[in-house]
Amino acid sequence: MNIGKVSKRVESISPFYVMDIMARANELEESGRDIIHMEVGEPDFSTPQPIIDAAQRFLAIGDVHYTKAQGLPLLREKIANFYHQEYKVEVSADRIFITPGASGALTVALASLLDAGDEVLTCDPGYPCNNNIVTLFGGKAKPIAVDAAEHFQLTGAAITEAWTPATRGVMIASPSNPTGTMVNRSQLNDIVQTVNNHNGFLISDEIYHGLVYGQRAISALEISDNVFVLNSFSKFFGMTGWRLGWLIVPEYAVPAANRLMQNLYISAPTHSQYAALAAFSDETRVILDQRRDEFESRRDMLYEGLKELGFVLIDKPEGAFYIYADCRAFSEDSYAFSLQLLEEAGVATTPGKDFGISSPERYLRFAYTTSEERIQEGLRRLKIFLMRDK
Ligand SMILES: Cc1ncc(COP(=O)(O)O)c(C=O)c1O
Repeated sequence: MNIGKVSKRVESISPFYVMDIMARANELEESGRDIIHMEVGEPDFSTPQPIIDAAQRFLAIGDVHYTKAQGLPLLREKIANFYHQEYKVEVSADRIFITPGASGALTVALASLLDAGDEVLTCDPGYPCNNNIVTLFGGKAKPIAVDAAEHFQLTGAAITEAWTPATRGVMIASPSNPTGTMVNRSQLNDIVQTVNNHNGFLISDEIYHGLVYGQRAISALEISDNVFVLNSFSKFFGMTGWRLGWLIVPEYAVPAANRLMQNLYISAPTHSQYAALAAFSDETRVILDQRRDEFESRRDMLYEGLKELGFVLIDKPEGAFYIYADCRAFSEDSYAFSLQLLEEAGVATTPGKDFGISSPERYLRFAYTTSEERIQEGLRRLKIFLMRDK
């Protein structure tokens, strides 16, 4: 009898621990408490109006059917053009797939590449779904511990050291979730060359491109065409709920990715694709750049504030909207500390154990996805809480 039994594979899929924090934050809010949300990994801004207007125009016609599995040709052309403008690279629209979020891009990329038992090197701390999706497709994620000294990013040397005969490829993200750190051109070059030398694949998660506060982010496509690049309309474009992203694959993987899109999703959401046609307009870009500037000043405020409170921080993270703070001055268990901060200070954060197994108990992720005013208030509450016994 198999009733009531789920697969062994799914048993090893880890939950998001931050959901416990969010559930408790909800309960507290329902009981009348005010909670500062610094756990949320999505922009607090609403979708830019030109994108909403485009969706409304499309919905008014009411012709909401599937698109081609690969996505709307016009949107793929716009993305190809975006790569030309932003990165000075030529990417044929034939290699671009419109997916349900970067999440959809991750599944298509990994399903295209993995056979049972194939090992994939991932960054720890890193985006937790990577390891889980590798497992779902029968692969074996091998998290590599990266620490503050490496700016929480993989290096060519670390990849070479971890490579075994079972290793098939590597996943990176720059800027990273949860650390906001980036790899520069020469580091990325080193990673791409190392992976190529091992004849492996590289998946480069570029979902936080656009949300960078110093030098512009380098795309892996500037270094090689033989990479899988995923991106999304979720973060920079402020479209999390529309579930829309994209995947760029090397020529050889186009037929495989097409078959997978057909079978897994049929197509990405049609109304979202029509809405996203307005994402690359000048009008939208003005709004997005203003928001980027706002994120930058929030980052500065939160960074200085946390540092002053005694959290141990690396240099200012250059991108995304996260600060990964070492809280060893206050606690040896960041999960318990996160719950305590919520209960006693009314500040919600994400515990390190959502991002891997490499010393997660030392870290908390703070997201600056809330206003400067709320960040100030959060810092004020943290200060009172941390000074309580002094
Ligand atoms: C690094 C990274 N990759 C991928 C995703 C998936 O995003 P989405 O499916 O909304 O595009 C996220 C979401 O938080 C992320 O942080």
